[in-house]
Amino acid sequence: MTVHFIGAGPGAPDLLTLRGRDLIAACPVCLFAGSLVPEAVLAHCPPGAKIVNTAPMTLDEIMAEIAEAHARGQDIARLHSGDLSVWSAMGEQVRRLRDMGIPVSVTPGVPSFAAAAAVLESELTLPGIAQSVILTRTPGRASAMPEGESLTAFAATGATLAIHLSIHNLAKVVADLTPHYGADCPVAIVWRASWPEQRIVRATLATIEQAAADGPERTALILVGRVLDPSDFAESRLYAEGYDRRYRPGNTLV
Ligand SMILES: C[S@@+](CC[C@H](N)C(=O)[O-])C[C@H]1O[C@@H](n2cnc3c(N)ncnc32)[C@H](O)[C@@H]1O
Repeated sequence: MTVHFIGAGPGAPDLLTLRGRDLIAACPVCLFAGSLVPEAVLAHCPPGAKIVNTAPMTLDEIMAEIAEAHARGQDIARLHSGDLSVWSAMGEQVRRLRDMGIPVSVTPGVPSFAAAAAVLESELTLPGIAQSVILTRTPGRASAMPEGESLTAFAATGATLAIHLSIHNLAKVVADLTPHYGADCPVAIVWRASWPEQRIVRATLATIEQAAADGPERTALILVGRVLDPSDFAESRLYAEGYDRRYRPGNTLV
C-alpha cells in the first residue's frame, strides 16, 4: 500500500500530468485538498472510490483516514493544488507516514506561478533583465517568515518575484518593493489562473493597488519584475547564428 502524493495543477482539469491522472484512476481512495483542487480532477477516480475532502480536517484526522486505508491494503491518491514542492503541507504528512512505515510516491504538478506566467504569455527570465525567479510569500496568520526571507531582502536582488498567498497584503508588497524596483516597474496579478473565473490585472507598482482594488482577496499570484513588460532585451545566445553548441556544432561566435 502506498500514498501517492499528486500535484493536481493550478485548476484546469487538463493541466494534470498523465502519471497523476493514471494514479488517481488506479487508487480506490482519494484524499483531496478541497480548497483549491478542482472537483473535475476527481472524475478520474475509479467507480466506487472513497473520496474525502481534507480541507476541514486536522492532520491527525487525515493520518487516521490514511491508517484505515493502509489497514485495508488500499492505495491512496493524495491531491494537492499546483505542485507539491511549495506550500502543499506534504512535508509534514510524509514525515508522519515515514514514522508509520507507510510508503509514499510523489508526482509533480504544474505550479501556479508557471500557470500565471503562461496566462501572461511571459518568460520570467529574460537575458539582461532577470535570470532568477523567487517564489515567495508574505507572512500569514499561520506562517511567520523566517528571518532573512523578507520581501525587501529578495527585492535587493532585482530578480523576478512570484509572490504567493499575499493578495491581502498588496499595500505592504508595493511599499516594500517600490524603493528597489521603481514605481514604474510592471506588476501583474493573476487570480485563479486557468480556472473559468480567471482574472488578470496588469499595472505598475505605482498603479496596481488601484487597478486591483475590486479584485478577490484570495487565490492570486502577484508577479513583479521588468520581464513582464520588457521594452528591450537581448536575444539569448542559444539560437544565435554562429553559436557553437552541442546540438548545432561547427559554428563559432567571434
Ligand atoms: C497553499 S498555496 C499552494 C501553492 C501550490 N502548491 C502551487 O504549486 O502553486 C496557495 C497559493 O498559491 C497561489 N495559487 C494557487 N493556485 C493558483 C491559481 N490557479 N492562480 C493564481 N494563484 C494560485 C495563490 O497565491 C494561493 O494563495
